[in-house]
This record gives sequence, C-alpha cells and structure tokens, in this order.
Amino acid sequence: MDISKGKIIISGGKPLVGEIPVSGMKNAAVAIVLSTILTEDKCIIENLPDIADINISLQILEEIGVKVKKLSKNTVEIDATYVSPGIAPYELVSKMRASYYLIGAELGRFGRAFVGLPGGCDFGVRPIDQHIKGFEALGCEVKLDGGYIEATAKNGVLQGSSVYMDVVTVGGTINVMLAAVKAEGTTIIENAAHEPHIVDTANFLNACGADISGAGTDVIRIRGVKKLHGVTYTIIPDMIEAGTFMILAAATKGDLKITNVIPKHLDSVTAKLCEMGVEVIEDGDSVTVRRGAAPLNKVNVKTLPYPGFPTDMNPQMCVLLCLANGLSRLTESVWESRFRYVEELKRMGAKININGRCAEVEGIPEFTGASVRAVDLRAGSAMVIAGLAAKGITQIDEIYHIFRGYEDLIGKLQAVGADIKVVYPKNIEFSDFD
Ligand code: EPZ
Repeated sequence: MDISKGKIIISGGKPLVGEIPVSGMKNAAVAIVLSTILTEDKCIIENLPDIADINISLQILEEIGVKVKKLSKNTVEIDATYVSPGIAPYELVSKMRASYYLIGAELGRFGRAFVGLPGGCDFGVRPIDQHIKGFEALGCEVKLDGGYIEATAKNGVLQGSSVYMDVVTVGGTINVMLAAVKAEGTTIIENAAHEPHIVDTANFLNACGADISGAGTDVIRIRGVKKLHGVTYTIIPDMIEAGTFMILAAATKGDLKITNVIPKHLDSVTAKLCEMGVEVIEDGDSVTVRRGAAPLNKVNVKTLPYPGFPTDMNPQMCVLLCLANGLSRLTESVWESRFRYVEELKRMGAKININGRCAEVEGIPEFTGASVRAVDLRAGSAMVIAGLAAKGITQIDEIYHIFRGYEDLIGKLQAVGADIKVVYPKNIEFSDFD
C-alpha cells in the first residue's frame, strides 16, 4: 500500500513520553547522494534516511547509469564509475528541489549538464540565479530553455574563480562547490551559507579526495583536484527532525529523550524553548525535552540562515506559539511566503494574523481536532504536532509531503505513546472517526 495515498488520523491530548531516535539528515543526504557522480568509483553511504526524497535521488542516479545497491534500510552502495550525463527523467527531477545538485555534479564530472528545473515545497518564487551566477563565474555558458537548464564549460573544463553570493543560499553554495571540486585552479565562494549540511557535503567530498576548506564559514575555498575516489561515509543526524521532536515534547506537555542528535546544531531551537519555560537537557548525542503543566511564555522568533532559528522550523514553532500565554510574533526572513499552513491551524482554533512576513500569534488554551491538509513538508509535521496536542480527533490529508522528509514518523510516534495511524479511507466521512 502506498502510504502517501492515505490519511493520518490522530487522537490527541496525551503527553508523549519516552525515547525517540533521529535519522540521517535529509538535506545533507540528497546533496551527498547526488555528489557521488563526481567520483568514478564505489561509495558506501550510511545513516541514509529511508524517505521519498532519497529514494527519488537514488532513482535519478540509476536512470543516468549509476549502479545502486541497497545494503540495508539505511545503507547504500553507489557505483558511479559509469554515468551518462543529461538524461535524468523530468518526472523524477521535477519532484524535488534538491535535484538541482545534478547540475553542479554533472558539471564537476563532465564539464556539461542538462537537467530539468527542480520542484520542491511551494514557498513562492524559488530562483536559482545565484547557482547560475556561480556556474558562469567558473566559465560556463548557461541556458534556460523549456523547463530545462543547460550548462557547458568552454572547452569542457571549468576554471576556478571567485564568486560572491548576493543571497545566502544553501543550494547555491553546495551547487557551486560541486562544480568547483575538479575545476582548474582555485574557487572562492564568499557570503557562503553555513548550514551543517554544507559542512557534511564538504566533509564527504574531502573524504573522496577533494580539497575544500572553510565550509561552515562565510568563505569556502575549493582547490581543484584531478580525480575523486570512493569512500564509506555516514550522514549526520537531521537537525530539523530533532527540532520537530523537541517542539512535539513541549506541545504535548511530554518528556522525550531525542537520541542521535548533535545538540550544537539545535542551539537556536533550545534557546527559544528555554525562553518559553521548557526544560531542555543536553547529554552527549541526545537532548531531553520536558514540559510538565507549566505555562508557556510568549516569545518572538525570527527565522534566519544558520546558526539562526531555522526557517524549516517555522511551522512547528508556530504551533507551540499558539499554546503560549499572550501574543508572540514569528517573522519569516528566508522565504517570501511560508505561512500557507496558517489557514489549516485556524481550523483547529488557532488565532493568527499574518502581517507581511510576520505571524502575530495569540495564545489559546488548546487546539481542537479537525480535518486539515499538509500544505508542504514541514507544515505537515506541524499539523501532526498540533493534532497530537489537540483535544479530539484530527485527520490530515495530502500526507505524501510528510513522508518526503520524515523516516518512519508514525512508528516513532507510536513508540512514545501517540495515538496515530495512517488509514486508506474509501469514501469515508470525517465523522466516522468518533
Ligand atoms: C534549502 O533549500 C533546503 N532544502 C530548504 O529546506 C531550506 O528551507 C532552505 O535551504 C533554507 O535553509 C534542501 O536543502 C533540499 P536557499 P534551498 O537556496 O537551497 C533565495 C526542507 O524543508 N535564493 O538557501 O532551495 C531563495 O529564494 C526544505 O527540508 C535566491 O534568491 O534554499 C530564498 O529566499 C524546504 N537565489 C533564500 O535564497 C538563488 O539562486 C534561501 O534559499 C537561490 C536562493
């Protein structure tokens, strides 16, 4: 049964208690999986999350001639000795945003790329002008035509250069890095994004023989090398999945030990939860979040590039602000419109006013269960949190968004006491779930 065709049904109001593990980071894994095109060798990638975006990435690799072998649920062998550039199927590429890494990887391997423009969550305009600026700086001619992007290096060889990113962009930083690893000479990326998944991708490439320094800072230096070899590499834990579970513990007045995390990556989320009066205990590679019946203090939050409060935690945090005392403000500074989920929360009793890029959130005593939609990946996880905190039954539709980025979410939540399941209703009314 295709789980994405189902609906999530939640009976909420129970505090969640226990241990909940975090899987490998989606946004590092999609970049690293597609980066294997740069090696002409076998790589073994461990701690890969078993989620739709990774499975699509692996399908794309197979379509262009890469050999993929699942060694276990979360470990895959990728043999990119033979790759045929420029033939990734549009119907796969258009399903996720991260497919644009194919451009940088094919350029880095072949000096040319022909890729369908990416898909992904709808936050309004999602340009790739900075990616193109980087490729052109490396000596490529770039053409956009009929939903495809074609990039070609003069004489098939990219030339190292300096690139100043006008916008702090995760994808742009990684994509230029991929194109530069085998360029002639040295490339400097200035105003680079700092996200941990950029560092993880640079660490993977260096383990394959690349020469990258400065990842995680404003300036990344890439000295071109001739060839990359295979490697066995383990993906870092997913900080957004971890942050989602931290907010879940607070929203359900629970007590969750979240394991396989890097607490440092969650500093901004931890700081905000503590400001709200939630107890957060860091212990090695786990974080325990405990909230009894204590009231939640209102706070103001502004999403920023890392190490600021992550934009990918916007919807989840909004749910928690709905349960705080008084008026909180959530400002979205990364994406032009990331508040489409607010209408769904209002169906559960939320009192939110959108004022430009700011959500003014008036605290309510509790959510009331309702029938809602997952409008995108992180909004979907926010609906799950709201349903688990709500009084009564919540039904969530369009759940395929959620399974793009959260491995075994239902199983992980059931293990800590959540009354949650996926059903495949046939013409069933919401009222049937009494
Ligand atoms: C990555 O998207 C993530 N996706 C997103 O996570 C995340 O929201 C985003 O980074 C910000 O952290 C993946 O890593 C697969 P950006 P990306 O380029 O790379 C503007 C999730 O939930 N911009 O950093 O597409 C852009 O419009 C997803 O896992 C340009 O103007 O984001 C935005 O306002 C959702 N020109 C800002 O920069 C460009 O060429 C940040 O975008 C590129 C971006």
